[in-house]
Amino acid sequence: MRAFELAGCELGVATAATQIEGGDVDTNWHRWAAAGRISDGSSPSRASGHWQRVAEDTALLAELGIRHYRMGIEWARVEPSDGVWDEVAIAHYRDEAAGLVAAGVRPLLTLHHFNLPGWLADTGGWLNPDTLDRFDRLVAKLVAELGEWVNEWIPINEPNVYATNGYLFGDWPPGERSLGKTLSVMSALAHAHIRAYLLIHQLQPDAKVGSASHLRVFAPANPRNPWHRFSAWITDYLFQRAQLHAMNTGQFRPPFRRPAGVRPGRYYDFQGVNYYTRSTVASIGDGVAADVEVNDLGWEIYPAGLIEVCRWVHAAYPSPLYITENGTCDNADAFRSRYLYEHLAQIAASDLPIERYYHWCFTDNWEWVEGESARFGIVHTDYTTQQRTVKDSGRFFADIIAHRGVTEAAYDRWVAGQVYPTNKES
Ligand code: FCB
Repeated sequence: MRAFELAGCELGVATAATQIEGGDVDTNWHRWAAAGRISDGSSPSRASGHWQRVAEDTALLAELGIRHYRMGIEWARVEPSDGVWDEVAIAHYRDEAAGLVAAGVRPLLTLHHFNLPGWLADTGGWLNPDTLDRFDRLVAKLVAELGEWVNEWIPINEPNVYATNGYLFGDWPPGERSLGKTLSVMSALAHAHIRAYLLIHQLQPDAKVGSASHLRVFAPANPRNPWHRFSAWITDYLFQRAQLHAMNTGQFRPPFRRPAGVRPGRYYDFQGVNYYTRSTVASIGDGVAADVEVNDLGWEIYPAGLIEVCRWVHAAYPSPLYITENGTCDNADAFRSRYLYEHLAQIAASDLPIERYYHWCFTDNWEWVEGESARFGIVHTDYTTQQRTVKDSGRFFADIIAHRGVTEAAYDRWVAGQVYPTNKES
């Protein structure tokens, strides 16, 4: 069967403010770019120019029949210095949310997506305990300002990726290499999530709040090797499971300790899963198996992993599942439709309550340290003219929404001829 129906799962696209908006804003990432840390020398001050093109992008979403949009806000725009709100920027986000709703598109809003205002980075970011209060202040302000149009919230995107890339591997701002600081930041972000969960519900009783965790399958390179098996297990635990457990339940297992004031509880209304790939490891850390299908960044393409991850998450934290990100770096749009097809086919065949699927990303955008060189969009961005052009994968996505599933004709037209690259050595 090549055709399938997608009953019960609604489709949308996901974005993040720093990656699409553009503009000379003082964030940790604009500073990182200015320090020469981006592989192609680009900066988020260009990105896809979304700040000036909100109306155009909203119209394009509607034209493609996309009814769900995961968007972010840029903290540095909203609060350009400590305790000072920029009411014009806030009105801009209010207009954006209202415009989406008017166009029949439901926003899901991320409050922190790897982006800190420069002034806050200067105070130590999430290593400074005062950041928790400052984040609460931001949360309260945005719920008050945007709550008329938004009632689905993700306080923090991928806290595990933010902490490990910024504080363990040193590749992202602030470029630290310290296990102790990594664990402190992970713990602080779990704490921030719990506080935001409680605060949002207090301010907006019908709100739905969840995390968007970057979750992977970790596999031993050689399943018969006990060290490989241990490495896969411990990396899985330290990179994702311990922190997800803390955020969801307020129970901080080792190596974390429960912060003062946190009570065990249930801190999720849905489980947000960002799923991209499988890691194959022979030691503690990351790795990719040899001779497997990969995307243009070398990440293994492993569709079955989407359900493997959702299955353990759902067993541990039963609630509706939202795939808050899934997508692939495919610069020529040569295999994205197949990637989409194979991941959605997993959802269609599963008995799990996967209610949403947000494809990463809508337009091509600024991909952190990869800059403009890694294209994830279903819509092509010409960064010089900011012209948007719907890709074949975008047409396929719209067709899936229109038919509530994949038809035989759609499969033949967009998927049949596509093959993935491999990392086989020639
Ligand atoms: C995720 C991030 C998102 C984007 C994709 C490709 O880890 O949440 O911003 O960069 O990867």
